[in-house]
Amino acid sequence: MGLSKKNVDINNVNCDDYTVADFSDFDSDDLFDVSEFFWGMYQDGIRRKYWVYGQPVMSTPKDQFDVYDMYTDSVRTFLNFCSYNYLGYSYHPEVKKAVQETIDKYGIGAVSAPLLSGRYDITQKLEEAIAEFKGHEAAIVFPTGYSANLGILSGLLKERDVAVLDILSHASIYDGVRLAGADIKVFSHNNPRHLEKVLKSLHNKRTIVCVEGVYSMDGDLANLPEIIPICKKYGAKILLDEAHASLVFGERGAGVAEHFGLEDEIDISIGTFSKSFGSIGGFASGKLKLMTYLRMFARAYVFSCAMAPHTAAGILKVLEIYKKDKSARDRLWDNTHYMQNKLKEEGFDIGNTKSQVIPVMAGDDLRLREISKRLQERDLYTGVVTYPAVPKNKTRLRLSISSHHTKDDLDRCVEILKEVFDEMESWSPPQ
Ligand SMILES: Cc1ncc(COP(=O)(O)O)c(C=O)c1O
Repeated sequence: MGLSKKNVDINNVNCDDYTVADFSDFDSDDLFDVSEFFWGMYQDGIRRKYWVYGQPVMSTPKDQFDVYDMYTDSVRTFLNFCSYNYLGYSYHPEVKKAVQETIDKYGIGAVSAPLLSGRYDITQKLEEAIAEFKGHEAAIVFPTGYSANLGILSGLLKERDVAVLDILSHASIYDGVRLAGADIKVFSHNNPRHLEKVLKSLHNKRTIVCVEGVYSMDGDLANLPEIIPICKKYGAKILLDEAHASLVFGERGAGVAEHFGLEDEIDISIGTFSKSFGSIGGFASGKLKLMTYLRMFARAYVFSCAMAPHTAAGILKVLEIYKKDKSARDRLWDNTHYMQNKLKEEGFDIGNTKSQVIPVMAGDDLRLREISKRLQERDLYTGVVTYPAVPKNKTRLRLSISSHHTKDDLDRCVEILKEVFDEMESWSPPQ
């Protein structure tokens, strides 16, 4: 029997008994009852200092940052392994100056949808710069990376179409296909043989295959050299989400497709400005005719206010700096290799990461909760990742490495992880 008001005492919830997954099938007559159930779990989590999400950051997201800690009612300084600021551009002085000057010129928002009056000269310039950077004919800039996937997939697919997704694809990819009402098929993670089996079973239906350059929760790379020929063989289009790969992979920094020399084989490339670009926004790039069509039919683009002009100015400045000077990226790779090696030497399970996104596997939810609480007590901030971001019971800490980390930061992070994981040897879950 599923969970309902009959078998859950919503006034006395023990957070050890449930996970976020339990909320999706909670059954009740009143639409809002589930929030009472969740409130009970949330309050118990706070009482026991397990709730670590969404605490307000109070300073620049550098290698260390200040975060308001509700448990001590104070602002504490943490080692920051949680921001996607891989190249430190969010606070680069020249980027901030470009943003400030653009605010002086245009104000703080686009104040209109892009097809009306929300697309500024600077937004157009950004779209042209991104198209050139990606080696594509055209690009569209979206307010977020999430809305880029949502808009492109829902704008393109119809109910009779099929999207074949790597099972670990980002939520925005799943949501875009769902919004279109198209059929979703999955293939096991990065497994070309399984992909082929799925494509073969579709008997030439109109199909798009969606994969990620760098997988956001695992840090491994799409096996494009094997995946692409299979897509071609079955006539499937290819969407590649380069969210975590942009400015990190490929000689120009265009992403994993460039890294493998396969840029020309990708039909639609998606990216975000919220990771290495240090800002906010997303983009899609590809052939001019396709982008021109999608500009009119991607509802997440058409019916949402456009990116603020100062945001576009900041991102353009990042591109300009990056083209001239890739030393931040060199430092990022140096730190990434150092950290991957050190964690492996210390016996941590970091999966198959090949990038600056480093998972440290943590077991089930109860273990993750205890670990994350202890890490925060020791002033270490990491991503704390559970379902639905990863499969059930495959929880993990996600370390985001950055060019701004010093070797001392990296050593200290591993030291703290070691202390806590050693302590956990003698920990047993509450009965
Ligand atoms: C692979 C992938 N695609 C899309 C997104 C969404 O990007 P944004 O946060 O810019 O909306 C993310 C963000 O985490 C991501 O990891």
